[in-house]
Amino acid sequence: MFALNGVLAYLGVGAVGPGAPAAQTGGQPAAASNASGGSSDSGGAADTGGVRALPATFSGQKWYSEDLRDQEFDYKDPNAGDEVKFQPKKMNNSTLPDNEKRAELVREGRSLFANTSEEMPEHVGNDLSCANCHGGGDLPTTTGMVGQDIDMIPLVGTAAGYPEWTGRTERMRDMRQRIMGCFLRSMNSPGSAEGMPAYDSREIQAMESYMVWLNKGTPSQRTPYWRHIEKPEGDEKVPVPEVNPVRGAELYLENCASCHGADGQGIEGQYPPLWGEGSYNDGAGMGRMYTSAGFIREAMPYGAGHTFSNWEDVHDVAGFMNAHKRPHLPRQPKDWAVSGAPDEGIYYDRVQQRHGYDMNPMTKKLMLAGIPIDDSELTAEMIPEDTSRYDQPLRNESVDGSWQTTWIRTYENVGNETATNATATNTTASNQSAITPQAAVTSAIAEEESYAAS
Ligand code: HEC
Ligand code: HEC
Repeated sequence: MFALNGVLAYLGVGAVGPGAPAAQTGGQPAAASNASGGSSDSGGAADTGGVRALPATFSGQKWYSEDLRDQEFDYKDPNAGDEVKFQPKKMNNSTLPDNEKRAELVREGRSLFANTSEEMPEHVGNDLSCANCHGGGDLPTTTGMVGQDIDMIPLVGTAAGYPEWTGRTERMRDMRQRIMGCFLRSMNSPGSAEGMPAYDSREIQAMESYMVWLNKGTPSQRTPYWRHIEKPEGDEKVPVPEVNPVRGAELYLENCASCHGADGQGIEGQYPPLWGEGSYNDGAGMGRMYTSAGFIREAMPYGAGHTFSNWEDVHDVAGFMNAHKRPHLPRQPKDWAVSGAPDEGIYYDRVQQRHGYDMNPMTKKLMLAGIPIDDSELTAEMIPEDTSRYDQPLRNESVDGSWQTTWIRTYENVGNETATNATATNTTASNQSAITPQAAVTSAIAEEESYAAS
C-alpha cells in the first residue's frame, strides 16, 4: 500500500533532481510500464517510519505519467475530509531563490494571488482574488497557504505542465498566457479600467515566479496527483437537463447562504460573491457544470469540504449557482470555435441549443419556479413545495426572456447601449460580437484576441 507522506515530504526538502541521493530510495517507479530505466515489479516502497522515501530514479524517467489518483494514490477520503497527506511548503530563505531580485518577485507574486482585486484594481473587473478559488488568501476567514490547499484547486506542480494545448482557443499557451486567461475570465478583466495585465508586466512576471516557486521539487512534465479538481466521471455525471437548480436553491440556503449570503453576494472582506457583477464571468471555468460541481464538492462549505457525499446534490447546488446572471465575456461566443464547447458549458448559447434550450437551462428552471436569477435575496418561501418537478428537462415550457438573461455587461464604455443590461432582448451571438466597445474595452479585447488564453 502506498503512503504518500514521503512523496510529499520531499516537497519541503527539495533534495530531488538528477542528483538525488540513492539513500533516499525506497522503491521502484510507480508506473512500471513507463519506467524507462529501472526494472519495477511491485511499485511498492519501504515505509520508513511513516515517511515514504522517494524512488531515487524518478528524475528523467516517467515516474508517473498521469494523475496518480488513477493509480490508487489515495490522498484523501472521498467522502469526508479525512486526513490529508499533503505538506505545503513554507516561504523562507531555504525555499526562496538565492537571487534577491527573483526572491522579491516570488514574494510579490504570492501577495498578488492573495489579494488580487485590492492590489491590481485596474486589471480586475470583479471582487475576487485568485486565492478565493486557489486557496490560502489573506481573508480573515480563511486558512492555508496560497495555492497549496489541497481542496482548493492547488497550483503546486502546475508550472511543469506549460506550455500546453488549449482547445478553447485552439493554440499552445505558456504559463503567462494561462495567468492572463485567468484575469480575462475568472477576474473579469474586460470589466476593469485597463483590461488584462500585459504579457511582460511586472505583475505577470511575479505571478509566474510564484508558480515556479510552487513547482520546485515536483517532477518535471508530470501531472502531480494534486493537480486539477476531481470532476464527476461516468455515472457520477448528471446530464445537464436533469440537474435540478430549484432543489439546489434549497440546498444553498442550508449549506452556503450563511457565508455567501441569501443574495449570493458574500460579505466584503470575508466571503466572496458567487454571482452578479462582482463574480467570475460567463467564460470562466467555474461557470461550467462539472467543474463547479467538482470544486464545490471538494472545497465547500469552506472548512467542511466533502460534506456532500451525493453527486446529485452537488450538481443541484452548482446548477443553482450557475443559473445566475454574471458578467459577459465579449469573446465568449468565439470560444471552442473548432472543438465545440463541452456539454457542461451552460453559459454558452451553442451548448444551450445542443441541449434543446433557448437559454441556460438552469436559469430557465429557476425562472419557471419564480426564483430570482439576479442578486436579490432568496428566501425559503420562494422555494416551491414540490421541487421534484424540476428534475425534468422542461425544455418546452416558455418563460419571458432569453439566454441573455444570464449575463451582465460590467464595462462602462460600451458603445452600443442596446446590449447594456440585456434582459429580454433576443440579440443573437453574432450580433453581439458586432458590438464595438471603446477605449479600454477595445484594448482589452484586442489583447484577449492576441493572447486569447484559457
Ligand atoms: C463557512 C463559510 C462558507 C460556507 C458555508 C460556504 N463557503 Fe464558499 N467560500 C468561503 C470562503 C471563505 C471562500 C474563499 C476561500 C479563500 O479565499 O481561500 C469561498 C469560496 C467559494 C467559491 C469560489 C470563489 C467565488 O466566489 O466564486 C465558490 C464557488 C463557493 N465558495 C461556493 C460555495 C457553495 C456552493 C457553498 C455551499 C455548498 C459554499 N461556498 C459554502 C466560505 C464559505
Ligand atoms: C472563480 C474561481 C477562480 C478564480 C478566481 C481563479 N481561478 Fe484559476 N482556476 C479555476 C478553475 C475552476 C480552474 C480549472 C481547474 C481544473 O480544471 O481542474 C483553474 C485553473 C487555473 C490554472 C491551471 C491549473 C492547472 O493545474 O492546470 C491556473 C494556473 C490558474 N487557475 C491560475 C489562476 C490565477 C493566476 C488566478 C487569478 C488571476 C485565478 N486562477 C483565479 C478557478 C478560478
